[in-house]
Amino acid sequence: MASNHKPKKLMVSSSQSNLYTTLFFIVLFTIPALFLLHTTTTTSLCTTSFSTHPSPSWSGNLLAAQFAWNRLPLVQDRSRPTALRIAVFSRKWPIGTIPGGMERHAHTLHTTLSLLGHQVHVFTSPVLPKELIKLDNQQGSPSPSSPYIHFHEGEPGRWRYNKAWEQFLEENQREQFDVVHSESVALPHWLARNLPNLAVSWHGIALESLHSDIFQDLTRKPNEPISPSFNQSIQGVVPKVLNEIRFFHNYAHHVAISDSCGEMLRDVYQIPDKRVHVIVNGVDEADFGVDDNLGQEFRSAIGIPKNASLVLGVAGRLVKDKGHPILYEAFSKLIDKNPNVYLIVAGSGPWEGRYKDLGPQVLVLGSMSPSKLHAFYNGIDIFVNPTLRPQGLDLTLMEAMMSGKPVMASRFPSIKGTIVVDDEFGFMFSPNVESLLEALELAVSEGPKRAAQRGKACREYANSMFTARKMALAYERLFLCIKNETFCAYP
Ligand SMILES: *[C@@H]1O[C@H](CO)[C@@H](O)[C@H](O)[C@H]1NC(C)=O
Ligand SMILES: *[C@@H]1O[C@H](CO)[C@@H](O)[C@H](O)[C@H]1NC(C)=O
Ligand SMILES: *[C@@H]1O[C@H](CO)[C@@H](O)[C@H](O)[C@H]1NC(C)=O
Repeated sequence: MASNHKPKKLMVSSSQSNLYTTLFFIVLFTIPALFLLHTTTTTSLCTTSFSTHPSPSWSGNLLAAQFAWNRLPLVQDRSRPTALRIAVFSRKWPIGTIPGGMERHAHTLHTTLSLLGHQVHVFTSPVLPKELIKLDNQQGSPSPSSPYIHFHEGEPGRWRYNKAWEQFLEENQREQFDVVHSESVALPHWLARNLPNLAVSWHGIALESLHSDIFQDLTRKPNEPISPSFNQSIQGVVPKVLNEIRFFHNYAHHVAISDSCGEMLRDVYQIPDKRVHVIVNGVDEADFGVDDNLGQEFRSAIGIPKNASLVLGVAGRLVKDKGHPILYEAFSKLIDKNPNVYLIVAGSGPWEGRYKDLGPQVLVLGSMSPSKLHAFYNGIDIFVNPTLRPQGLDLTLMEAMMSGKPVMASRFPSIKGTIVVDDEFGFMFSPNVESLLEALELAVSEGPKRAAQRGKACREYANSMFTARKMALAYERLFLCIKNETFCAYP
């Protein structure tokens, strides 16, 4: 009896453990699947309007707001005792060289906050001596309206948070900071844990990486082997998500740079609502505006004929994970039947040569300075961003919209929930060749007049949401509110 019983019991427990394993995997794959599902819903306005659009008369505690603060008509209120003392931890501070998105954000935000009258101290890694000279030239004589930069000692470009932390403590002892801002994990969580007045901005989280790893692997051809480095990344991403969920709560306040990232931090990372705030990054409104003449000049200078029926543009690093393989293939199919459609490629990287092979309808122009980019955006009809890797949110989408251009972009939750929130703003596609080709064909059939109409709506939206000033006013309000809760009451 007993011996009969044993195997049965064993069987039961092993099937139970199978059940648990199955449940575990169901849960594991439901999370990304939920986001994928979320992205394939077509009625974007219906699904996101509650969280992303406050009513015009919204009032309440800002800390509890789940929509992007950029949506509020924020103005600088000089009746408040506003001069804040702000400490910033940033791995790098951009001087001269072309910076990444995170450094650009730090620079735009804190330069604007300084101009608004706040005292900003940036703790960052050292730069080469010749770059320091540029900094001096750039800032002219020391001025109270620019951030004070503390470069820690050591090797140029190499971030050492403990050195920066020492400098911060010294400066904090001299006069206490009202608020501390960390760009991503510049300040690691075991130090951040001790600071109740800290806000961290996340420029991409591991859950978003999981999503982009899925999209990237799906673009692999049936016989194409998985690269060892990508395989390693995909194997490591779930532990990374779990790790982040465990340590993120050590940061007092979280700034998500897209609506969907805010949602993930609240709903999956389980950070209390009142500690998660959505503030979308902004671009300098002086650098990107509508200028039709500039656009026309740019077109003729690069030799786009007058009878061009549609001019598309793509910008950024020309690498695989920015989606260039799918744009390359979709565009090569599009021009088979459309001899008057052009693609301008602004950027450099491994895919430069491939694009050149597509013939005279593709103009590959290399990396561009900000002023040339301004002309580029004005010269195109539609901006295409086929990214497979949208951790954070590409500033190029905002720059194009600020320049009055509609966008065509991969349907990721961040882009759909914050950028292309209205069908009028452009086109979204699943990141595969067929879906992108379909979007391109639709844009071609609509023509440039319709694109310009869409562009007007984009400009209006971008101007209300994506200006550096709007971003800085939102951060200012958050920092004031962290300092003293009476500032959290809106209006
Ligand atoms: C991917 O990584 C896993 C775990 O490290 C390994 O078992 C597997 O063989 C790798 N696959 C390929 C195709 O490299
Ligand atoms: C467009 O104009 C160019 C000359 O600028 C001409 O060579 C070309 O054939 C024209 N294309 C079409 C399809 O009309
Ligand atoms: C917060 O601000 C209010 C209004 O300016 C002020 O009366 C109060 O003393 C401040 N509280 C603290 C703790 O500074």
